[in-house]
Amino acid sequence: MASTTSSLLLLLLLLLISSHPSEQQQTSSLSPSDKAALFDIRSDLRDLPGSTFFSTWDFAGDPCATFAGVICSPDDEQGTQSLRVSVLTLGTGLADSPGLTGTLSPSLPNLTALTDLVVYAGRISGTIPPDIGTRLRRLRLVSISNNPIFGPIPVSLAGLPDLHTLDLGHNKLQGPIPTPLLLPSSPSLKVLILAANGGLSGELPPGISTAQLLHLDLRGNSLTGALPRLPSTLRYFSASDNALSGPLDDAFAAPLPDLAFLDLSMNAFAGPIPPALFALPRLSSLLLQRNNLSGPLAVTPPGAEAPPSWAVVDLSHNMLTGEVPAALAAAGSLFLDNNRLTGDVPKEVARSVYVGSMTTLYAQHNYLTSFPAPSLPLPDSVALCLSYNCMSLPSAAAAAGCPASAGTQPSRPSYQCSNTTTAVTGGRDG
Ligand SMILES: *[C@@H]1O[C@H](CO)[C@@H](O)[C@H](O)[C@H]1NC(C)=O
Ligand SMILES: *[C@@H]1O[C@H](CO)[C@@H](O)[C@H](O)[C@H]1NC(C)=O
Ligand SMILES: *[C@@H]1O[C@H](CO)[C@@H](O)[C@H](O)[C@H]1NC(C)=O
Repeated sequence: MASTTSSLLLLLLLLLISSHPSEQQQTSSLSPSDKAALFDIRSDLRDLPGSTFFSTWDFAGDPCATFAGVICSPDDEQGTQSLRVSVLTLGTGLADSPGLTGTLSPSLPNLTALTDLVVYAGRISGTIPPDIGTRLRRLRLVSISNNPIFGPIPVSLAGLPDLHTLDLGHNKLQGPIPTPLLLPSSPSLKVLILAANGGLSGELPPGISTAQLLHLDLRGNSLTGALPRLPSTLRYFSASDNALSGPLDDAFAAPLPDLAFLDLSMNAFAGPIPPALFALPRLSSLLLQRNNLSGPLAVTPPGAEAPPSWAVVDLSHNMLTGEVPAALAAAGSLFLDNNRLTGDVPKEVARSVYVGSMTTLYAQHNYLTSFPAPSLPLPDSVALCLSYNCMSLPSAAAAAGCPASAGTQPSRPSYQCSNTTTAVTGGRDG
């Protein structure tokens, strides 16, 4: 009986081959070791209620032909007939799918021909197999994000010859970032996302300046120490919401010709804002809010060849003193609130607000003395907040754009403003 079935299968197979002579590779089958690894991976995971990802994973069939998330390729390097798993995507990533739960099998690193590994959002816990990088030498893309995966970042992921993108964001990873990941010893690595793990700690290595990264997202962790000089290749850098401290001068002492997005908010950086930050030729978003930055602002824009095109400049909730620089009029959204700024808002800044090129100006909770409102109506789209300064507001609109956190007092009590210098250095409120 069994032999009848298999000869029938063979006949079907032969028919298939003869009718599709050009698709010979379909006749190759998945290597037994990859099939065994997929079996273990499947055993350690299951669909959350509402997810149907594994409905196609029937091991009686051909994984390469039917399994969702599995792509196979001929194994060129080994020169064998069998197929290997080259791409593994666990979960659909669709917003309406709750994803998978369970753990990542220790057999995952047996898929040694894997180039792309994607694990979509779900409730997968446990750790990342520590030997993942030792055995999966061909990895180009690793994205294991939005799951409660804990433990360390495997050191073995550093130094992989082809790894371009590593996204381990929004998990519960802890411990230090393996230093070699941030060094030129990972020359192919361009995108490194370790955001929102909470527990990644330690200091950033000085050697990071020679890495070749384009996109580095470390926000929402527990990193400490100073900010070292950044890689000159960077386009996107976020270290927001960590415990970094110290002055910023060193980090921006060398050119960053391509940096477009910089977020250092919610740390404990102190001292002046380096003028070099305002002179970065491609910078669009400059987010420095909620630090301990002090001193007057020295804004020297990049120059005539590269006029600033800041979409957003957020310097709020610091200890900045002195006057508002006129060059900040180039920002699309400008947040200066909760500092110790004094003097008149420059007419260039006011003009940007009134012509609508600056759509948000938050300057509340400073010691500013006037806002030169032209006799134009304020555009409806503009959010302007000037409350709790040392001026009588130019119009009701100047407080109408305030967030609730600005409070209800239109101006400071006059004793705080009778001598602004005294009020500023007196530090009566933060
Ligand atoms: C995975 O590889 C290890 C080491 O080669 C081996 O001991 C283990 O049996 C493999 N697992 C499977 C499911 O084949
Ligand atoms: C902020 O900086 C001042 C000195 O400029 C220092 O005395 C203070 O402790 C710092 N605060 C924080 C929260 O780091
Ligand atoms: C205002 O502050 C300055 C600087 O602290 C001080 O020299 C001056 O005496 C103050 N003036 C008054 C009227 O308090």
